[in-house]
Amino acid sequence: MIPLVIDTDTAADDCFALLVGLLHPRADLKAITMVAGNVGFEQQVHNALLTLGLAGRLGDVPVHLGAQRPLVREWRSASEVHGDGVGGLRRLDDAHAPSPEHAVDALIRLAEEHAGELTVVAIGPLTNLALAVRKEPRFAALVKELVIMGGSINGRGNITPAAEYNIYVDPEAADIVLGAGFPNVTIVSWDPLTLRDAVFTAEHIDRIRDLDTTLSRFFVRANQATFDFDVRVGINGSTHPDSLSVLLAIDRSYALEERRYRMSVETRGELTRGATVFDWRSDEPNVTAIERIDAERFFESMLGLLAQEAAPGYGELLAG
Ligand code: BDR
Ligand code: CA
Repeated sequence: MIPLVIDTDTAADDCFALLVGLLHPRADLKAITMVAGNVGFEQQVHNALLTLGLAGRLGDVPVHLGAQRPLVREWRSASEVHGDGVGGLRRLDDAHAPSPEHAVDALIRLAEEHAGELTVVAIGPLTNLALAVRKEPRFAALVKELVIMGGSINGRGNITPAAEYNIYVDPEAADIVLGAGFPNVTIVSWDPLTLRDAVFTAEHIDRIRDLDTTLSRFFVRANQATFDFDVRVGINGSTHPDSLSVLLAIDRSYALEERRYRMSVETRGELTRGATVFDWRSDEPNVTAIERIDAERFFESMLGLLAQEAAPGYGELLAG
């Protein structure tokens, strides 16, 4: 079992990434930590609790609230991409509240409790991770592996032509994290990895719909806004980098090619804020980028997870 924390700005693909962490037989999800990103903070917390409810894990995996805005910059949402992130669904059980422990304290505590064993998967802006690094200087060294969904390998962005969203929102945090000395940092990039290997086409979505489970209905509904947005901007389906990041953290055999780089973030550029530079020539690499995955196997594994039954009570919420 792999002890895991997922740091997330929960909407759409973040919800499915949480399902991977909650339902994969090798994942031991210790906590979900929330960071400002995709949609309003309260909506993100609602989405995480809804996902936990669907997976039947409410009260079992704690949700910790973290940074509600980036370190320096104004927050920028991605609600034009994801809508509210769950297709307008409202959670059934509002008795369960987030943990009173702050996300940064939970990250540090779990890294100490599982020193050298904990994997952290960061699928939102890196604000909480940067704060943990600043609060506890030993934090980075205690984490076994940090998987970051962020950046493009000298390629195109999504929120701007130059920058990928997670890095763009808090470039100063990304800069701190990349310089913190984490022993193993794995990067799941937007370009080329997500755009080539983590796109679910209309045919893929039909296969998910045909599963006809509560979880598959949730996926199709929560994914619709992202699917429509991605197709509008010329992608051949919806993008799933966050789900892929969690899966790779649990099972690295999905990666077919990897390469070491020195990754840096532009914090000063006007047109290039949050752009990532991957130096392939460096003698001091600080990340390993996944360059290619088995895309079909990734989709099949998502299909397998979504074929499982959801917790009782959610069928009605998603009926029709
Ligand atoms: C990333 O930005 C967010 O909108 C997605 O959840 C993903 O983590 C892709 O750039
Ligand atoms: Ca995300």
